[in-house]
Amino acid sequence: MVTRTSACPDFDVRPFQTRDLDDVLAIELESFSEPWTRGMFEAELQGNPFGRFLGAFRAGEVSSAKPLLGYICYWVVFEELRLMNLAVRQDCRRLGIASRLVRHAIEEGTAQGTTRALLEVRAGNSVGQQLYRALGFRQYGCRRSYYTNPNEDAILMELPLTNQIHL
Ligand SMILES: CC(C)(COP(=O)(O)OP(=O)(O)OC[C@H]1O[C@@H](n2cnc3c(N)ncnc32)[C@H](O)[C@@H]1OP(=O)(O)O)[C@@H](O)C(=O)NCCC(=O)NCCS
Repeated sequence: MVTRTSACPDFDVRPFQTRDLDDVLAIELESFSEPWTRGMFEAELQGNPFGRFLGAFRAGEVSSAKPLLGYICYWVVFEELRLMNLAVRQDCRRLGIASRLVRHAIEEGTAQGTTRALLEVRAGNSVGQQLYRALGFRQYGCRRSYYTNPNEDAILMELPLTNQIHL
């Protein structure tokens, strides 16, 4: 098991697929009060031409039952990169995995011509906001009572991709 004090496990970032959904859903369920369902992930993977899906997979353990450490889902919509979902296994957090996933998404989005990254995060999710601020995102707005379970505002954050990412 990887703990808070462990060195970051060696991992590769590559697309995840429908066959990875059991592992994705296990992380999703432990990460969110309103998790995406299998059907939502399947619809994204199979039916959204804008969707991109990256996983952090433990290196050198292709046959391991649980090689997935975290994942990010994002959309490339013309000039916009929209971060839609991001989570890391609870026992692998604070090891730099989410930062690397976001940086990968931004590098790929920039290569595809996006000039602005956007996201929404719960007002009460200070860890998420801290992560995005550390990557250079800044708040540009707020949507009142955007989320349910619990009812919460959405903080809207953006990062101009013409600037150098901070990490
Ligand atoms: C938010 C989340 C994805 C961060 O993943 P992670 O791999 O632990 O993040 P990283 O290790 O890359 O952290 C990068 C930076 O984010 C900030 N950060 C991450 N976890 C933090 C914490 N618990 N407290 C304060 N800051 C934190 C720090 O600035 C950190 O840099 P540092 O470790 O050098 O101080 C993870 O906590 C998670 O899955 N949470 C539940 C789901 C969620 O909230 N997703 C985001 C929704 S928009």
